[in-house]
Amino acid sequence: MDRIRIVGGRPLVGRIPISGAKNAALPLMIASLLTDRKLTLENLPRLADVGALTRILGNHGVDYSIDGKRKGEGEIAGQTVHLEARAIVDTTAPYELVSRMRASFWVIAPLIARMGEARVSLPGGCAIGTRPVDLLLMALERLGAQIDIEAGYVVARAPRGLKGAEIDFPKVTVGGTHVALMAATLAQGTTVIHNAAREPEVGDLAACLTKMGARISGAGTATIEVEGVARLGGASHAVLPDRIETGTYAMAVAMTGGDVLLEGARADLLQAALDAVSAAGATVVSEAGGVRVTRNGGPIRPVDVTTEPFPGFPTDLQAQFMALMTRAAGVSRIRETIFENRFMHVQELARLGAHIRLDGDTALVEGVPVLKGAPVMATDLRASVSLVIAALAAEGETIVNRVYHLDRGFEHLEKKLGACNADVERLSNPG
Ligand code: EPZ
Repeated sequence: MDRIRIVGGRPLVGRIPISGAKNAALPLMIASLLTDRKLTLENLPRLADVGALTRILGNHGVDYSIDGKRKGEGEIAGQTVHLEARAIVDTTAPYELVSRMRASFWVIAPLIARMGEARVSLPGGCAIGTRPVDLLLMALERLGAQIDIEAGYVVARAPRGLKGAEIDFPKVTVGGTHVALMAATLAQGTTVIHNAAREPEVGDLAACLTKMGARISGAGTATIEVEGVARLGGASHAVLPDRIETGTYAMAVAMTGGDVLLEGARADLLQAALDAVSAAGATVVSEAGGVRVTRNGGPIRPVDVTTEPFPGFPTDLQAQFMALMTRAAGVSRIRETIFENRFMHVQELARLGAHIRLDGDTALVEGVPVLKGAPVMATDLRASVSLVIAALAAEGETIVNRVYHLDRGFEHLEKKLGACNADVERLSNPG
């Protein structure tokens, strides 16, 4: 299994192209099941999760093809993928496939909306908390689906089609909003989604569905209205830039010092996180080509953050920000309110010399002047990349094990960092 070796201590200098967002790409790909026409997605990141979802969609009957590289295109440029579900050949999403990636559970929405039935394995356990699907199922029930749990599978039936309804989420759920939105596009009548997630990835899905012929208003606000249509058509859509990748590299530059242009990044997708990076002592400036992050000398300042649904500070950047705070000149408090068990990186950061104390949903991080390299491993992709950030500033060598977590969500991580002066290397087959 691959590992990544990092020797810390070098400032990052250069340019990092930001890839298409994983968490937009996955629901966009799933939306291809809603139509028998071709959906073309540009700027799709090359990630293990994208490959895994391609296989899951193939099982339902989606044909896919990938455009070759265009002349002058670098290997990091996003790929263009065509997805075409002319016929749904299977409405079952089996355990072997769904258990590997939670987002694949969302296929339940287009399958029931288009076919009137779906049989989807309950997603498996997850390293960052229990992550139930009750709200996703509530949304489908509101739209008239009959839901039964049979032998670990959710069986959803709506033989006469879904019907528009009011869906009121008691808490903000990204996946619940994606599912409600996709299902409502083909329901008869009007659906109103209250307390909808406002994450940019929801807006990107709504924009693509609209190009496919859906009638949606209010995406990006807490109330989304969908007027159902009889069928959707094909479309071409470019995936929005990855705000979590953007924030991760911004925090890496704040950690090591240096000057990096995050090419193609959009500050408006992660303003709360960039504000925290600025408060920590880095300079963050939007330019024509993206977002530039610099830190030249000066201490890292302690900053308190609390994770919240968008537009608040994202849970998917909590681990990375904690890594940055391990070197701050003082104590910071990092509170996690979205997932109940998303502190698995704490003990691994401690192996690098960090001082962190957990108190319920809050981590108290006491900055230290020096981190020291060590072998580490992590349990999810954001935790893994937080260890990379810490390693970039640590004295000596760090080996990050279980690199497959990184490959799920960060395209060409070692190449992007290596091109900016970092001493990073992928080690294959450790023996
Ligand atoms: C999405 O997960 C993202 N995944 C996550 O990113 C992200 O951390 C999360 O949203 C929050 O922003 C993708 O987009 C593929 P939720 P999702 O439903 O949709 C609870 C990453 O690292 N809840 O918004 O599964 C849930 O337990 C991943 O890229 C219920 O109680 O998250 C959590 O506490 C990790 N019942 C809260 O809601 C439900 O039925 C928010 O979860 C559904 C969710």
